[in-house]
Amino acid sequence: MANATLTIGGIVGLTLAVPIVGSLLPPKSSATGSWSPLSAQELDALAKATAKPVKLTFTLKFTDGYLPEQSADEYCWGIRVDNNAKFAAARPDIFNQPGGKADVPYDVVNMNFVLFSPICPHLGCYYSWHDEQNRFMCPCHGSQYTFDGTHVAGPAPRGLDPLPMRGQSGNAQVMWIVYQSNTPSRIVVSYQA
Ligand code: FES
Repeated sequence: MANATLTIGGIVGLTLAVPIVGSLLPPKSSATGSWSPLSAQELDALAKATAKPVKLTFTLKFTDGYLPEQSADEYCWGIRVDNNAKFAAARPDIFNQPGGKADVPYDVVNMNFVLFSPICPHLGCYYSWHDEQNRFMCPCHGSQYTFDGTHVAGPAPRGLDPLPMRGQSGNAQVMWIVYQSNTPSRIVVSYQA
């Protein structure tokens, strides 16, 4: 049953709740974030990964002013989360609102997955996963994060930033968001590459 929920077919019927809290995102009507489909193969790998993150690649499409639509190759990191309460307890930098709510206006855990922006919250370099250290490590100034994105070393002011995920038309999708660097709180800067 658990595996069934993780299949793409199972994703179709899932509803993503997107409660609007706080003012970090524009209202729904003016949000400019776009949803990018994730590959079924990579999602399948994520569903089977218990202790290692999986790199999920996608094409990000966006518009910039009056220019034609542009696209960029991007990726995010996904982890499988089987215990929401345990994950929330490990990430007080996200679940820091009254009642233990998250500081982002979307569900952090979806379909037993959490997606992380690949951008280091310190000054914006792309970090990567290192099996030997069992850590996400940033090459620029040495920030390190555990499997669940907890900041454990280096100058970053917060843990890894989650990204919205949803099931739509038989696919899972991710929304790209760039958050402000080097602040303890998550402030949206852009929805573009
Ligand atoms: S940008 Fe990652 S540690 Fe500075």
